[in-house]
Amino acid sequence: MNYRHAYHAGNFADVLKHVVLLALIDALKAKPTPFAVIDTHAGAGCYALEGKEAEKTGEWREGIGRLLFPDVGPHASAGGALPPLLRHWLDSLLAVPGNEPGLKFYPGSPLQVAMALREGDAAQLCELHPEEATRLRERLHGDRRMHVHQRDGYEALKALLPPPQKRGLVLIDPPYEAQEAEYRLIEQALKGALLRWPTGIYAVWYPIKQRSQVQPFLRWLGHCGAHRVLRAELLVHGDDSPLRLNGSGMAILNAPWKLDEALREPLRALARLLSQDHAAEWRLDWLAEEGAPAAPRPAPLPRSHGRR
Ligand SMILES: C[S@@+](CC[C@H](N)C(=O)[O-])C[C@H]1O[C@@H](n2cnc3c(N)ncnc32)[C@H](O)[C@@H]1O
Repeated sequence: MNYRHAYHAGNFADVLKHVVLLALIDALKAKPTPFAVIDTHAGAGCYALEGKEAEKTGEWREGIGRLLFPDVGPHASAGGALPPLLRHWLDSLLAVPGNEPGLKFYPGSPLQVAMALREGDAAQLCELHPEEATRLRERLHGDRRMHVHQRDGYEALKALLPPPQKRGLVLIDPPYEAQEAEYRLIEQALKGALLRWPTGIYAVWYPIKQRSQVQPFLRWLGHCGAHRVLRAELLVHGDDSPLRLNGSGMAILNAPWKLDEALREPLRALARLLSQDHAAEWRLDWLAEEGAPAAPRPAPLPRSHGRR
């Protein structure tokens, strides 16, 4: 429990995760009936970009910093019109109290969810670390749609699924302190969750250092029994160094109809804006598709290159 998201908030991995999160919530809002969001690893909810943790790593400058100031510095040519989903997402960040005229606070997933939910929707937010959970509770105090639980998010799924709304989304965003063992925890949790709530949407964030480390998990996802497993990845470096975070991905189980279309242009734009060297690329493809029994897949999986 050493991980603190304040050091990493707003980095390129958060950008991918939160853009996909907004696309998922937008898809759920296409129907008027209420839905639930369950965030298994919620964090503190909001992070000061001028705080000492964020200043120490400066990670946000290579993430959200590049999107808010695309006309500055070496990426000036990457500016210009943004796809509507990205524009909508950036506007929602700027609407956080205290963020006028510039971005001082980066909202974490619970706050972004709170901003996007409608009156009748609800969220269950799990955070194991006591101080982070307290901050989250304080931050969301008075919002009756948002429920904070200071408990293990994997365990909580047993009690929280299926939600009374019968439709919605589970976000699984662990810190991967357990390294590769975290994948086994996620698989176990997903196995049980899919039994309890087979129609729920599950979005899992994963880090990419070396490609080989994540391949077994991606293969497992392709055979986990969920329909329509979409993978969205963004790499800002080549995926061959174990020493740094080279990129990250979101795997979406039971992905909403047309989610791939909603994400294609935003991913293309993000790859252009966030790439840190010539190897930067993005992928958007299906690990499992409806109607097609998942066949054994030899590595590497098919890819969509950002430069195509
Ligand atoms: C990557 S951060 C979450 C960031 C957040 N989802 C966001 O997008 O803003 C992971 C969080 O999970 C918490 N955590 C670690 N193990 C946990 C567990 N088993 N259950 C719930 N929370 C846990 C950590 O304290 C940390 O705040």
